[in-house]
Amino acid sequence: RQVGHEEFWIFGYGSLIFKPPPGVEKAVAGYITGYVRRFWQMSHDHRGTPDAPGRVVTLIEREFWRNGIATRDPHAAYEREECRTYGVAYKIIPEQVPVVSAALDLREQNGYTVHLVPVHSVDKTTGEAIQIPSIVYIGTPDNHAFAGVEDDLDALARLICISKGPSGENKEYLYKLEGALQELHEQNGVVEQDFHVVDLVARVKKAEEIYRTSEQD
Ligand code: BEZ
Repeated sequence: RQVGHEEFWIFGYGSLIFKPPPGVEKAVAGYITGYVRRFWQMSHDHRGTPDAPGRVVTLIEREFWRNGIATRDPHAAYEREECRTYGVAYKIIPEQVPVVSAALDLREQNGYTVHLVPVHSVDKTTGEAIQIPSIVYIGTPDNHAFAGVEDDLDALARLICISKGPSGENKEYLYKLEGALQELHEQNGVVEQDFHVVDLVARVKKAEEIYRTSEQD
């Protein structure tokens, strides 16, 4: 059943999961299909600088991904056929919508554009499956900050390990995302994990350890 028409819902799959937008009336866990979440978007303004951009998540459309780049994606084998991305859908208080969209549209400065997607969720009171039309911010492969396939995972991990910007350390963004996803999955009985995120955390922790020991030498 479709719900939430005429309402303003926004689906967060990155920092919005652990840092909700302003003006939230309600937050529900859910997933979208047809996209994979990847650390393939450069961040010049939040978790990096113009000279040394960090990496943050974007969504890659399944058809585009499958028709070529998936063969270079080291985590491709871990995606299920429908390509699910878990996150949180936020309903924004109607009076706050202009303020919130103006604040969020600043994201467009870093290459993200607005798209409409159905978020699959469950009505907590009835247990019924629902779909909520929500907007989502995606850095598509044609945006100026798209980094492309990051096929060297250890190089990507090192880059995340050392990058920082006005919002803080890049690795903190990754760790917070992983922690928030773990909580989201636990609370909603989701057994699968986002292997791309989990594997990057392991690699960044290893890189941290290597940097730490080399500093001591
Ligand atoms: C998100 O969490 O969904 C998000 C945050 C910033 C830019 C794009 C997406």
